This record gives sequence, C-alpha cells and structure tokens, in this order.
Amino acid sequence: FRTIIEPFRIHSVEPLRMTTRAERREHLGAAAYNLFQLRAEHVLIDLLTDSGTGAMSRDQWAAIQHGDESYAGSPSFYVFVDAVRELFPFEHVIPVHQGRAAEKILFTALGGPGRIVPNNTHFDTTRANVEATGARAVDLVIAEGRDPLSEHPFKGNMDLEALDALLAEHAASVPCVMVTITNNSGGGQPVSLANLQGVREVCDRYDTPLFLDACRFAENAWFIHEREEGQGERDVADIVRDMAALADGMTMSAKKDPMGNIGGWLAMRDDDLAQACRTQLILTEGFPTYGGLAGRDLEALAQGLREVVQHDYLRYRIRSTAYLGEALQRIGVPVLRPIGGHAVYLDARGLAPHLDPLEYPGQSVAVALYEAGGIRSCEIGTVMFGRQPDGSEAPSSMDLVRLAIPRRTYTQSHIDYVIEVCARVAADAASLPGYRITAEPPSLRHFTAAFEPL
Ligand code: F0G
Repeated sequence: FRTIIEPFRIHSVEPLRMTTRAERREHLGAAAYNLFQLRAEHVLIDLLTDSGTGAMSRDQWAAIQHGDESYAGSPSFYVFVDAVRELFPFEHVIPVHQGRAAEKILFTALGGPGRIVPNNTHFDTTRANVEATGARAVDLVIAEGRDPLSEHPFKGNMDLEALDALLAEHAASVPCVMVTITNNSGGGQPVSLANLQGVREVCDRYDTPLFLDACRFAENAWFIHEREEGQGERDVADIVRDMAALADGMTMSAKKDPMGNIGGWLAMRDDDLAQACRTQLILTEGFPTYGGLAGRDLEALAQGLREVVQHDYLRYRIRSTAYLGEALQRIGVPVLRPIGGHAVYLDARGLAPHLDPLEYPGQSVAVALYEAGGIRSCEIGTVMFGRQPDGSEAPSSMDLVRLAIPRRTYTQSHIDYVIEVCARVAADAASLPGYRITAEPPSLRHFTAAFEPL
C-alpha cells in the first residue's frame, strides 16, 4: 500500500491554537522577526526543531515511574548505561543534560588554541564549543554535500582525501576527528558505513581518535539499510553497532533519536580522557551517575533507545519526511535533494533568487511561512553561519530553511497543511523582502538577533 501509516495511535492529545494572519504579523513585530523569539502558543505547526519535541510512548511514560532519584549509584543509571551499550558498547558512558554539554566537556578536555577539529559539518553548537576553546573547526564534507541538487545517496560523507591532507600537515594539532550522523547542517544527509570505515583508516594512519556526533544515528543506520550495498537484510541495531565499533567515542543529544525531551551523553574507550571528562562533568553537570538528568529521564531514554531502532518506526519516519519533501518538489518548491532523515530543507536561494545571501533569503522565507500559515521553521544559512570568528560577514555555502519533523508528533493532515502553506509562499516568492540585522550578540546570533525587513 502507498499510504504511510503511523505505526502508533494517539493516546493523549495537546490542543493547537489557531491565530489570524493579522495576529501573526503582530507577533512577528514583537519578536523582531526572529522566530526563536516567538511564544510557542502563537505557532500552529512547530517545525523549528526535531530536538526534544517528539512524543514519548506509553512505555516511556511507564518507565518514568521506575525513575530512582538517588544522588549516586541510582539503578536508573545502570538501566540507561545498559541500553546505551546495547548499541554503543563504549567503556565509559557519561550522562549529560543535552548534546552541547557533552561537546563542552569533550572540547574542554581536547580543544585549545592552535588545535584543529575536522568534521563532515559541525553543527552550530559543536562549532561554537570548539571555537570557544580557541581551536579551529573545519568542515570537510564531500563536494556533493554542498550541492543542493546532487543525488548522491550519502551526501554526509567525509571527504577522505581532504581529511588525509589535513592530517598529513597538522596531525599533531588534531585532538580528534568528528563525524556527524546524520549531517544535520548539510541537510540531514547520511554517512555510509564504507565512508566511516574510510575515516577510521585515515585516523589510524595518524593515530587520531574518531568521535561520532550521533544524534540521529538510527536514521543514519536506516539510510544505510536502504541504500548501501549488502546492508538491506541486516538489523538496524547491528548496523548501529558497526558504526560504534569504528569510533573511539561519541557525543550525543538524546533529544533526537533516543526520543527524549531532554538528555544526552558522552562516551569513550579511553580511561584517561574519561577521567578528565568526569572531573569536568562534576563542575558543570552533576555526579557521574546522573549528569544533570533526573533518574526518570534516564529511564525514559533507555526505553526510547529500544523503540528507535525498530524497523516499522524507522520506515515510517523516513518515508513520512520524504512525503513532505517529494510533495514540495512536485509543486516546484526547490528542496535539498535527496530528502533528509529528520527534516526537509527548502533552498531559499533557489526560491528567492532576487535576494543577495547577505539579505538573508532563508530568514525571509522562514518569516513568510510563519506569517502565511503559522508554521515555524529554522533558517540554516547566512544568519546562522555568516558571522566569521574575525568579525567579518560572509555568505554561508547554502541558504536553507529547515522544516524539522518532531518524532511521532504530527499526522499526515498536518503535513498536508504545511504543503499548502509552502505552495502559497512559493507562489509569491518574487515579492519576498530581504532582511537586515539591527542587533546581534557576539556569537550564536541566530537565536537572539533582531531583524528588520528591507
Ligand atoms: N549535534 C547535532 C548534529 C545537533 O543537531 C545538535 C542539536 C547538537 C549536536 C546539540 O545538541 O541541542 O541537545 O545540545 N540540534 C538541534 C537542532 C538543536 O535543532 O538541530 P543539544
């Protein structure tokens, strides 16, 4: 059958609030055209992020009742560690309150002035945490990964030659190589097992550890299952274990594939590094058996990890994201190809070619989607990445608008509505205004910058 069936039924509902276009215009003004500054109850369909916004299952809510809130040695910690190790058998598993806390701790231990951290594409908080230590964050995704129209099945892959060249010159300054699965900032695109093996070989040549930024590991593994030769008959959990076996450690935001509303972890094989990280953890997150989380959160994540590798769920997840992307493509809205795992990325430069990248076409499209239909999306382009560490501004390699799909949250009719709103905005795209920034903080400006239409 062609209908994508949600492999669950609804057990508890949250009301959505309708607003008029005039009200939304007012809310936009009050938010200085920054969608992060809107009140969520003024949003109808919230596609700002798939992070922490998913619906937990009945079994996750039940697991919460098992939460043990002991300060040290809680049984919930061991349930959590066992569930993580079932997929990622690292010696040390250190819970943290979310992914960026893992990044902060890891790069406090490994970063510093003169250091260089390569990645396929750093997520914004990862880049900021690397740069905050004085180190340099370098993106080395394959050339196809920067081309919105390339149909390469694994556009998240690392450019192995570029990685080898960087390490040949600078290995002594590279504390670790990172690979982000899936490559969020590059369009939610997967990395193949073969490419990860290639990265491992390059790392071995220079004796450099490899860390995964594994937020969307299950979606990445499903793409491997669907697209990589010889993987189609395998259990996704086995593919995940293969990815883990190639790495020396990982940072994790459990707000994505582990189906949590909050949480994360840092894991590794190396004892000395783990000790340095745990010391740092105690300063900023908490004791190593809870790391900034409640025992009940640890239980919910353990159950979420069991659910996310189920094939029925992943088939629905990836197909339903593609449903949105393919419908937009059919009505002529330019989207990043192939459709990613957790999100559809509109190509705002393609949609509004009359706008210069420094007039923020992504911001313009995102504001228009909210004004037209109450949809909140996220600019991933020159607003997010344009400000350089030296203070200058440069266009980002792409100007995208991300429609991120929360897990198990919206139904097909919600998505059909999103398609209609996008069609209306696209029909009027030639009249979209550019924007200028009237105030911005020194880093991570997209969260708080104030804008004005030109
Ligand atoms: N790495 C990647 C690839 C991410 O996508 C995120 C978060 C993080 C690290 C940081 O994790 O939010 O738990 O601290 N991405 C969210 C997003 C915010 O909307 O894509 P966090």
